[in-house]
Amino acid sequence: MAVIFDPLRGRVRPEASHPDAEIIDMLTKTYSDAEWAVLTGAGMSTDSGVPDYRGPDSPPRKPMTIQTFLSHPDQRARYWARSWMGWPRMRGTRPNQAHLALAELSVAGIITQNVDGLHQAAAEAVAADRGNDAGAPAPSPVIDLHGSLDRVICLSNGHLFDRDWVQRRLSELNPDFAEEVGIDPIDVETAPDGDVELEDTAGFAVLDCPECGGLLKPDVVYFGDSVPAARVQAANRIADEAAGLVVLGSSLAVLSGLRFVRTAAKESKPVVIVTDGPTRGDEFADFRSISRVADFVTAWASR
Ligand SMILES: NC(=O)c1ccc[n+]([C@@H]2O[C@H](COP(=O)([O-])OP(=O)(O)OC[C@H]3O[C@@H](n4cnc5c(N)ncnc54)[C@H](O)[C@@H]3O)[C@@H](O)[C@H]2O)c1
Ligand SMILES: [Zn+2]
Repeated sequence: MAVIFDPLRGRVRPEASHPDAEIIDMLTKTYSDAEWAVLTGAGMSTDSGVPDYRGPDSPPRKPMTIQTFLSHPDQRARYWARSWMGWPRMRGTRPNQAHLALAELSVAGIITQNVDGLHQAAAEAVAADRGNDAGAPAPSPVIDLHGSLDRVICLSNGHLFDRDWVQRRLSELNPDFAEEVGIDPIDVETAPDGDVELEDTAGFAVLDCPECGGLLKPDVVYFGDSVPAARVQAANRIADEAAGLVVLGSSLAVLSGLRFVRTAAKESKPVVIVTDGPTRGDEFADFRSISRVADFVTAWASR
C-alpha cells in the first residue's frame, strides 16, 4: 500500500498566543485593514455546511488527483458522477457569518484556497445590504487560488463553461442515473470538493468539450496539479504589497497556501493564524488564535 505523507503528522494545536482582543488591537491600531492580506481555507466554510479535510472530526478522505482523473475514462465517469450528484447541494450553500464579517472589511485582498465561491457571494450580500451608497468602500479583491467549482474548463484548449450549463447537459445525458443508484441529489451530504460518496458510477456518461472534443474538468486545482502562473502572480502581488498576513481557517497542509506564510515570515511581516486545529505554519505565527473564525472576524469587523 502506498504511504501517503501526512503534512500535519506529529502536530498538536498550540495554545493561543494572546487573547483575541489583543490580536485585534494589533490588527486595527497598528495597521489599517487595507494593509492586511488574508489567506482563507476550508475552516472558513464549515459553518456553511461544507466540510473541511483536516478538522478534528473530519473522516479521512482520498480526493481525486489529476493523475487519477487523466488515467482512465472510468475514473472520469466516477469523478463526474459524484460531482454531478453533489452540485445541487453545493450550489445552494450560503456564506456564513465569517464570510459576511470579512466582506465588511476592506482588506488588501482575500487569497482563498476554497473553491466554493462564498467570499464572492458574501461580497454581493454586503453590497446589496449597503444599497447604492456612493461612499461605500470597494469590496476586497478575491483570488481563488485553487479555482472555482462554478466553472468547467476544457483541458485541450482552455474553453470555459458555466457549471450550471454542464450540469444540465449531464442531466440530459444521464436521465435515469439518480434513480438507478437510489439517491436524491438534493438530499445528500456534501463532501469537501462538492462531490458525494458514491461507489456505483459505472455507466455515467460524461460530457466532452462542445467546442473541440477535449476533456472537461471542473476549473479547480486537483491534488497533484499546480496553480496557474497568472493566478499565483496576482496572489503574490497582494501578499507582497501587504504589511502582514492573516490566515483564517486553514491547516496550511497544502504548500501553495503555506508559501504565503513562509514568505511573510521571511520578510519579517507579522503573521496571524486563526484556526482551531494545528497548522503547518504555527512556528511562523507571531499571533495565534484558536477561536472559531466567525467569532474572530466578527470581533475584528465590529471593533
Ligand atoms: N470550502 C471549500 O472550498 C473546501 C473545502 C475543503 C477542502 N478544500 C480544498 O482542500 C484544501 C484544504 O486545505 P485547507 O487548509 O483549506 O483546509 P483543511 O481542511 O486542511 O484545514 C481546515 C482547518 O480549519 C479548522 N477549522 C474548521 N472549521 C473552523 C472554524 N469554524 N473556525 C476555525 N477553524 C476551523 C480545522 O480544524 C482545520 O485545522 C484546500 O486547498 C482547498 O482547495 C476546499
Ligand atoms: Zn475545448
